[in-house]
This record gives sequence, structure tokens and C-alpha cells, in this order.
Amino acid sequence: MVFIDACRRERTPYTPVWFMRQAGRYLVEYKEVRARALSFIELACSPELACEVSLQPIDILDVDACILFSDILMLPHEMGLGLAFEPGVGPRFARTIKDMEGLNALLPNAASRLGYVYDTISLIKRQLPSSKALIGFSGAPFTLATYMIEGSGSKSYAATKRLLYTDAALMHALLGRLRDEVIEYARGQIRAGVNAFMLFDSWANALEAPAYREFGFSYIQQICTTLKKEYPSVPLIIFPRCASGLLGYLEGDFDVVSVAYQSELSTFKDKIGHKYTLQGNLEPARLYNFEAMKQGALEIIELMQNKNHIFNLGHGMMPDLPRENAIELVKLVREASSRY
Ligand code: CP3
Repeated sequence: MVFIDACRRERTPYTPVWFMRQAGRYLVEYKEVRARALSFIELACSPELACEVSLQPIDILDVDACILFSDILMLPHEMGLGLAFEPGVGPRFARTIKDMEGLNALLPNAASRLGYVYDTISLIKRQLPSSKALIGFSGAPFTLATYMIEGSGSKSYAATKRLLYTDAALMHALLGRLRDEVIEYARGQIRAGVNAFMLFDSWANALEAPAYREFGFSYIQQICTTLKKEYPSVPLIIFPRCASGLLGYLEGDFDVVSVAYQSELSTFKDKIGHKYTLQGNLEPARLYNFEAMKQGALEIIELMQNKNHIFNLGHGMMPDLPRENAIELVKLVREASSRY
């Protein structure tokens, strides 16, 4: 698998490519399956439907990796918080964590109730060509905690920060619970057949550097250390999105660092490119215009020269991006990178 070779810093014939949120509303085929399910959650909980949408980008775009179709919020959902996706509003939890009582009320062994995810993985593996990798994923503890405390997306993260700066012990207790669940969830996904595992810390940018190291990154490190010992052959990918001062402390038992489009890939290459494979980081909005997309992609390919690089967007595909450009982008990356 070209994707796995790149994760392991081995030489590849071209730079492997996939896109965050590659299964989604910019594909009519996705919307068609989505309409068959009553809700997003029903889609995520149905192995047959989730498998079908996971495989769509493989057929349509010919990307090198398939990412499991699910959502990072299914884990807190199974911890008993009651997730709903409201049209036009986004995800919302019926219950939030405010105090130790809320923490104690969380259901134990959530990872054991995510059997539909493991079943989805088994189904995908049966149909995925052997040259393509399957990526499993979870939210990282800090991002999950933030959703669990705020109850939904947030601009200021005020409730999370109030808790963090007034009751650090409670915050660590919650993060520790999540760390243990994420590890167990990753084990389940790996046993079911994923070839690589990615941790999304989408809200890493919310904190000052020392706070992110303590409440965010240290948990990523702990998860990676545990998983690397148990599954040394499964590449681990981290996405600590725009974390403050990240390059000053970025170190751990992971293989790939995913870079957001707001960050400078050349700086990451200079500082950590000798140690970790870099993934990213085309600004997804460039896909609105073919020329803008081509220019951005070629700059990235020239910088990385098909070495220790996985091509991706620096954030997820947006629902109104033209699929034709996504299809062209995959071809362009493969062709341009194969010259190095
Ligand atoms: O990348 C993929 O193709 C795999 C599937 C995947 C989804 N969500 C499907 C999804 C993955 C890896 C995620 C991760 C995720 N989910 C993150 C981390 C990455 C990031 O974007 O920062 C976060 C923060 C979430 C939480 C979440 N889920 C939000 C904020 C939303 C609403 C936003 C929106 O686009 O509506 C979701 C819903 C969601 N998850 C959709 C998809 C395809 C859209 C739902 C729909 O079909 O209506």
C-alpha cells in the first residue's frame, strides 16, 4: 500500500493522496445514501450504509486511502450524552459535563458499544482493493472533552476554559476517562482491520501553548505510546490543528503529522520533516477554482518532492466544492509527484 509505505517513510512511486471528509455532501452519491437513512446518526450506526459511503471516494476519486465513515462524536454519544445533528445547526448533546456528578454519570465501556463501527470496518475490508489503506480514527481527548462540556460547537470555548482554569483535577479526570476509551476504541478498530489510525484534535487551537501541552498534547502522546507498543506496525497519524507553539514540543510515538492549511508546511518540513511524515495541507477553498487548486497543489508537491509526504487538504472537503476538481486533483498529484 503506497499510503502505508509513505507513513513509514519508505520510498513511494508517487505521493499518496486522500482528503479529509472525502465522504460527504459534495458527492450526490453520498446525499442519495444519506437520504435513505433517517438521520446522520442512523447512517453512522448502519454498517451497510456506512460501508457504502466510505467506499464512494475510492470509486469516484481513486484516492489511495479510505477513511472509515463515522464521526468523532459517536464515542461521547455512547458515553451517554445523547447526540443529535440538527439541520443547519450542527451536532448537539442533550447532556453536558459541568461537574464531578456529570463525569460520574458517564456510562463505562463506551468502546464496547461501538460494535457497529467495528462491523463497518470488517465490511469495508472485504470490498476495499488490497492496494488501498483503510484509516480508522477517533477524536483526541481534548476535542472530545470540549464538545462534551460545551454541548455543541463553540466560538469561545468559555465553559471548557472556565473548567480547565478552575478545576484542573476534574478536567484531567475527564481527559483520563477519554484517553482510556480512545485507546480501547482504537484497539477495537485495529482488531477489526484498519491499517492506520488517526487522532483528530480539531480544537487544539483554542488553548495557549502550556495549557495545550498539559491538557491536549500529553494525552495524544499517552495514547500513541500505548498503541505503538501493542501495534507497532499500525501507523499513527495526529492532527493537532493549529496548536499554539506546537513545533516547540511536537514529539511522540506517532508516524504522521497532519498539517492544517493555516500552518506553513515548509516550516513543519524544516523542523520535523526528517522525523515524521507530513500530511497536508492544501487550502480546501482552492478547489472552487481549478487554476488556484493546481497552483497550490504544485507548490506543495515541489516543496515535498515526494518524500515522506501524504497529500491531503488542510481541512475537510466542503459541501459545495466541485467534485470534478477533486477528481482532477488526485490525478494531478499522482502525475506531478511521480516525477520526483
Ligand atoms: O473524513 C471522512 O470522510 C470520514 C468521516 C468523518 C466525518 N466527521 C463525517 C461527517 C470524520 C473523520 C469526521 C470527523 C469530525 N467530526 C471532526 C474532526 C475533523 C474536523 O472537521 O475538524 C469534527 C470536529 C466532527 C464533528 C462534526 N460532525 C461536525 C462539526 C459536523 C457538522 C458539520 C457539517 O459539515 O455539517 C459533523 C457532521 C458530519 N460528520 C458530516 C459528515 C460527512 C456532515 C453530516 C451530514 O451528512 O449532514
